[in-house]
Amino acid sequence: MDNYLWWRDGVIYQIYPRSFADSNGDGLGDLPGIISRLDYLADLGVDGLWLSPIYPSPDKDFGYDVSDYCNVDPRYGSLADFDRLVAEAHALGLHLIMDMVMNHTSDQHAWFQESRSSQDNPKRAWYIWRDQPNNWQASFGGNAWEFDQATGQYYLHLFTKEQPDVNWRHPAVRQAQLEAFRFWMERGVDGFRLDVFNAYFKNPDLPDNPTKFGLRGFDRQRHIHDMDQPEILPLLNELRALLDSYPERYSVGETYLATPQKTVSYCGPDKLHAAFSFDFTSNDLNYPWNPGWIMQQIARREQTFNAAGVWPTSVMSNHDLPRAASRYCKGEEDAQARIAMALLLTLRGTPFMYYGEEIGMRDISLRRSEILDPPGRRYWPIYKGRDGCRAPMQWDASKNAGFSTARPWLPVHPDALQRNVTAQQANPDSLFHFTRKLLALRKAQPALRQGDYIPLEARPGTLAYLRRVPEQTVLLAINFKGRPAAFTPPDGKWQVLLSSQADPKDPAAALAPHEVRLLIKEE
Ligand code: NOJ
Repeated sequence: MDNYLWWRDGVIYQIYPRSFADSNGDGLGDLPGIISRLDYLADLGVDGLWLSPIYPSPDKDFGYDVSDYCNVDPRYGSLADFDRLVAEAHALGLHLIMDMVMNHTSDQHAWFQESRSSQDNPKRAWYIWRDQPNNWQASFGGNAWEFDQATGQYYLHLFTKEQPDVNWRHPAVRQAQLEAFRFWMERGVDGFRLDVFNAYFKNPDLPDNPTKFGLRGFDRQRHIHDMDQPEILPLLNELRALLDSYPERYSVGETYLATPQKTVSYCGPDKLHAAFSFDFTSNDLNYPWNPGWIMQQIARREQTFNAAGVWPTSVMSNHDLPRAASRYCKGEEDAQARIAMALLLTLRGTPFMYYGEEIGMRDISLRRSEILDPPGRRYWPIYKGRDGCRAPMQWDASKNAGFSTARPWLPVHPDALQRNVTAQQANPDSLFHFTRKLLALRKAQPALRQGDYIPLEARPGTLAYLRRVPEQTVLLAINFKGRPAAFTPPDGKWQVLLSSQADPKDPAAALAPHEVRLLIKEE
């Protein structure tokens, strides 16, 4: 392939390590488990793997509370296992991205233990301590300030109280954090996902945030002082220079409270390579899902990303949100999951696929007493937390879905007996095969990777767009509805590349119910 750049042209698959594959029968996924499934991932046709955190962690936020940035939690394996993972992934052409959680550490991190030991400890200023709190709210609920009895001050935490925010303004913190990036690059890691990077810097005077209407305390504020401060830009410049001192490394930021405009402001040749704009996801199960809305979202992001010359990313599901299949599918019917997958893999930008999305995994539902996720425990039933989308990977119809020989840390979805990798591999009409074919087409057709995006139509039940490079044009047409829909491709000699319907179709035939059709025209 000409000019192929893995992070731009390829597809990145997010693994939530606790839930992917358990090799040692303790109910938690681990690195050897991931290694045992690398062939599967290579065969599926993805190009990169993003590992949610694997560092030592007391798990107050399931790995997003890190107590040592330069190690592997023994429950997941060892650094030697990690090195083997890198080597074996690379041997299969898979790149590896680490999740860097650097807005905060765990309260068990040695830095915080020192910091909280006394007001005059040299690491006191590595965190944000004040005599009086301001009005800031924690994203997971409650006040963002926790009083420390022993030393008589409050520390800041934008997430749980066990996740104190570090003070990025302190030169030694900055240096230590950048060293962690270097540590993993030296071990061969190809890139990083930056957890809530735009919250690293806070207004140094810590003024109150203005208030607005909202449901939870955090939503009742305009977050103008606790994130998106100008000091993040020089840090991104420095980080990019560090990344660029190694060959072909990649960075993607998790933009906190993202909008396309905010997202692009953090990307560029001397900033991040990419950042999430989350144009198609929501916590809200009633989020719109129709051609008009989707085309509007695409237009909005295309305009902003094109104007800024920034490469977009596409996300339908991740470890913080109800899965797309749970949002859009009725019961076990996969028609809308195919549609979501077709959009994910044909939009302009780097697709991020969440483990199990290729077989249409659904969220599990839990009783109040089973909920583990801190915001879910706090806000149930208004908000049930994120456990639902983190259930064990459904490999086969055996006990615990082939994920583990022991009782898994979260229950397996009851549909695993039918919905699993092995069953879908055996069924040529499955979502798995549809996904695999789409991934192969992306690799084969330059228009799908790098082509311009050209909207065609959005009618109440259908949408269509083109992706075009000078030598070829690919057309995507989708019928969202359960009845046939008229369809006429633009002038030219089109051929069917792929259809979600079993039989190959005349390119200009009416779209079958829920059909996804890809056409190609050689110029
Ligand atoms: C964003 C992560 O995606 C989420 O899972 C985590 O809880 C928070 N950041 C805090 O690290």
